[in-house]
Amino acid sequence: MSPVAAVELKSAKELALMREAGAIVAYTLRVLSEHAQPGVTTEELDKIAASEIAKKGAQPAFLHYRGYPKTLCVSVNEEVVHGIPRPDKVLKAGDIVSLDFGVIVKGYFADAAVTVPVGKVAPNVLQLVEATKQSLEKGIDQMWPDKRLGDIAAAVQTHVESKGFSVVRSFVGHGIGRALHEDPPVPNFGRAGTGLRLAPGMVLAVEPMVNMGGHDVRILDDGWTAVTRDGKWSAHFEHTIAVTKDGPEILTVER
Ligand code: MF3
Ligand code: CO
Repeated sequence: MSPVAAVELKSAKELALMREAGAIVAYTLRVLSEHAQPGVTTEELDKIAASEIAKKGAQPAFLHYRGYPKTLCVSVNEEVVHGIPRPDKVLKAGDIVSLDFGVIVKGYFADAAVTVPVGKVAPNVLQLVEATKQSLEKGIDQMWPDKRLGDIAAAVQTHVESKGFSVVRSFVGHGIGRALHEDPPVPNFGRAGTGLRLAPGMVLAVEPMVNMGGHDVRILDDGWTAVTRDGKWSAHFEHTIAVTKDGPEILTVER
């Protein structure tokens, strides 16, 4: 028998704090998206993220998490996730940049990611970005009580593969609340009608990572940056979402 994941249900009070954290994440990601222009370094984006959340009185969720050295993850082009901001990594027109960011408010976490084009980007690359964003929306649409984790996974995977792209297997979404990563793991691939049953009070970070080519990734020598094995480009979108009796509530939105 496999053990049932201990999934913590959040109270109304806890959800209110996660909404606060989520609003700060969404606001900061919008500011960062506006700054993702040719000539900007990924280190500069990290500095902006740090100063914005300091102004809001929130704490960074990623800094020092398992030794992660920065506030923000910035993954460019063939980088899939967990790109470490660097002063020598300069954005150029035609790039896509994934901005992944989390904060803590009074002990509660929110986590989200967007992929944005830098300047003018090739049409097939824009299709990758759009398909990834849509796949997250399709996954979120499944987040009703009594649906299953596999329904989220299958909705994401079906959409991605219908567009001719592939879903990364070796990184998954997660429960979130009093920690950045809580149970259950939330894969972006799988079968409808299988897995944990969703219930009101569950909060999940759903985060499809989608590749133009094959789904395999490898980790660079910095110990963090995941890149596609075939060097083709990748996109990433994430929201923190609560399951309520009335359906999904996205917490990482501006208020
Ligand atoms: N959204 C990413 C995740 O849940 C961000 C984690 S970055 C880390 O894996 F540095 F904190 F690990
Ligand atoms: Co996450």
